[in-house]
Amino acid sequence: YNVPLPKNEPVLSYGPGSPERASLKKAIEEARSKQVDIPMYIGSEEVRTDKKLPLNPPHDHQHVLGYFHEGDSSHVQQAIDAALGAKEAWAELAWEHRASIFLKAADLLAGPYRAKINAATMLGQSKNAFQAEIDSACELIDFLRFNAHYMSQIYQDQPESSPGVWNRLEYRPLEGFVFAITPFNFTAIAGNLPASAALMGNTVVWKPAYTQIYSAQVIMEVFKEAGLPDGVINLIYVDGPAAGDVVFNHPDFAGLHFTGSTGVFRHLWKTIGQNIEKYKTYPRIVGETGGKDFIVAHKSANAKELATAIVRGSFEFQGQKCSAASRVYVPANLWDDVKKYIQEDLKDIKMGGTEDFSNFVNAVIDEKAFDKIAGYIDHAKNNDMSEIIAGGGYDKSKGYFIEPTVVVTKDPKSKTICEEIFGPVVTIYVYQEERFEETLELVNSTSPYALTGSIISKDRYAVELASKKLVHAAGNFYINDKPTGAVVGQQPFGGSRASGTNDKAGSALNLLRWVSPRTIKETF
Ligand code: NAD
Ligand code: ALA
Repeated sequence: YNVPLPKNEPVLSYGPGSPERASLKKAIEEARSKQVDIPMYIGSEEVRTDKKLPLNPPHDHQHVLGYFHEGDSSHVQQAIDAALGAKEAWAELAWEHRASIFLKAADLLAGPYRAKINAATMLGQSKNAFQAEIDSACELIDFLRFNAHYMSQIYQDQPESSPGVWNRLEYRPLEGFVFAITPFNFTAIAGNLPASAALMGNTVVWKPAYTQIYSAQVIMEVFKEAGLPDGVINLIYVDGPAAGDVVFNHPDFAGLHFTGSTGVFRHLWKTIGQNIEKYKTYPRIVGETGGKDFIVAHKSANAKELATAIVRGSFEFQGQKCSAASRVYVPANLWDDVKKYIQEDLKDIKMGGTEDFSNFVNAVIDEKAFDKIAGYIDHAKNNDMSEIIAGGGYDKSKGYFIEPTVVVTKDPKSKTICEEIFGPVVTIYVYQEERFEETLELVNSTSPYALTGSIISKDRYAVELASKKLVHAAGNFYINDKPTGAVVGQQPFGGSRASGTNDKAGSALNLLRWVSPRTIKETF
């Protein structure tokens, strides 16, 4: 028997007058009217320290949603001890029971906790209702349900046997504990990283980004209510380097499940390498990292469809989606129309706080991100080879707001078209349409990343050529669509080159990284 293949959780519309809108508004009001006091969760303890740091909505940064308790290296050690203490019982629990806990967590998120997790993501990370629904409700629910299905399939995958010999594979968890380090930008990813390793029988120390703690706490509450035993996932708020210092020097460190920037991941990989002789096993290193995701259009593309792919692919989720389009290659024959459609679309886009459901663009996550993105916009403004054809404005007086900005560059190797900006800025390069093949070469070679990318074309030969020339340029490759919106169970997600180890979140490929199989041959 196995866990049946689930269906994707339907995305609710939050239209005016809908019951989901009413309950979400109520959850937002409740959250805004009280101040939370968020502890760390270590073993059976809710740990509070004397260092309380505020949580502020990025779109209203003077408002205080509450406080979280910051820990130090002693809490990292306690979390490791709790994870190791819980390990044996959890690893020996039959897989059905582990699956049941996470399936129940998915049901809680789909039902009684849906409004709460979405409100937390809207207030804490400035996503609008629809973005929160896609991320913190549907994608997280899908991760939990599909992973349980894939786990049950993995366990059934067994080698051949013969009369007198019974061969089997025992999918043991890793020997030690797993360290999950999660980013600010997706609540679903933050929940999935510790949960997927735990599902396979591991115990975990989970360190989220400080800017995602508000929704991380709700995830932890759900896991606890679903019956997750103490110590299986330990949630700590400790500065990254300080946490790494304890974890990466520990002999029982057995795996890193990371999502975040390329620079941080490379640094962690080097640290692990330097410490390799300290560990009992070779740690598993799984990382989903930066991106510079592309759209390349062929002269046969439809200009209106292309413009829509650019606007949606670049600016939904404020461009703070690892898959967001941030470099686009448009053939000259389409450019006048594409430019007109983009400018028309962006003219009416509303920007503002997440509590107003009509806002399409919300704030970016914090001041550091705001300053970095604004710096790229200024660079484009002051560069003779670049022109801004839409947006370009920014204001951090109330919230960290940046207008959806379209830069057109004459230099296909310019700073804004090569470097990850991670915000609502897209750079377009207009190429002579007969230079399609050379342009594919540019797409392939001007960025170190390889996360997502799209070809927009009505010409099948052009699609085939792009698919071949860009074979290593994207882990998720889209034909005639924007490069965003991968759905768990449908488009396993992950990138290669500087974008990650490509272990495809939400698939058996990822879960297999969290087991260390033992082959058993029994002779009768
Ligand atoms: P980040 O690298 O700044 O932080 C990620 C996590 O690493 C945070 O929890 C942070 O506190 C921690 N960290 C930072 N320095 C550390 C250190 N020295 N030791 C241990 N932990 C440390 O990334 P972010 O700003 O939170 O997220 C944005 C980045 O994540 C972007 O580069 C984006 O492309 C990437 N991302 C990639 C994917 C993907 O699937 N490829 C998905 C989401 C986000
Ligand atoms: N699933 C999200 C996307 O592909 C990350 O856009």
